[in-house]
Amino acid sequence: MKLNVLFSPVNADELYFTNKTTVVIDVLRASASIITALANGAKEVIPMATVDFAVKLSGGLFGGQTILGGERNTKMIEGFAVGNSPYEYSKNVVENKYIVFYTTNGSKAIVKAKYSENLFVSSFNNLRAVADQLAKLNNDVEILCAGNNNRFSLEDSVCSGMLIEEMRKKVTGIELSDSSLAALAIYERFGLNILEMLKHSEHGKKLLQNGFERDLEYCSRYNVTSTIPYFDGKTLKVLDPYHVQSGVSNDG
Ligand code: MLT
Repeated sequence: MKLNVLFSPVNADELYFTNKTTVVIDVLRASASIITALANGAKEVIPMATVDFAVKLSGGLFGGQTILGGERNTKMIEGFAVGNSPYEYSKNVVENKYIVFYTTNGSKAIVKAKYSENLFVSSFNNLRAVADQLAKLNNDVEILCAGNNNRFSLEDSVCSGMLIEEMRKKVTGIELSDSSLAALAIYERFGLNILEMLKHSEHGKKLLQNGFERDLEYCSRYNVTSTIPYFDGKTLKVLDPYHVQSGVSNDG
């Protein structure tokens, strides 16, 4: 198994992901919001690449069952029902709902990787569950960091390194690309105290300035859920570990 890290979505074009197994990581905060929404009973999260398209799509979908969620520049977008704090995706808000979801980096990275054969969303919150799934699949893996406006982001890179470390415990003979080796080194340097690392990251500081301290704490928790968002070509759903489809195996 070969692991490769893309530190920013600009490191690859859409076709690069064709037939690949990809994990998208947006630690602050899109991954946490998606995982939380699905864990709390949302039927689907539909990732969008533009706000316009999100608004148009939500107008035409499942009357009364659709919620527009997400952010621009960390703030809730006018006309949207919820922002991008994972606390907003509570059971009473999202249960049995379809969430049309736009965020500055995270939803766009998922859309970019849409041709992947298997596409999962991860963060510290569900890291071990994702590592277990990847170990079962035993494919080469692309770890796509959503980054920060197409630039490197510390928190996504540390999380990639932690995922690689977890994979190395589970699978023997893993081959690491140069970027995977770098992610591992970044994790070893900054991964000891995840919350402190988040507080010192560029995006973490911005969220702190905007009053989202609680979200940083939420996003720093590791291995607190086994919910794995899985992209089926159109929308994100909870991966059913007993359902085998398009290369998603539950053997072993
Ligand atoms: C993003 O996709 O860029 C984010 O999740 C930003 C945020 O809301 O913190």
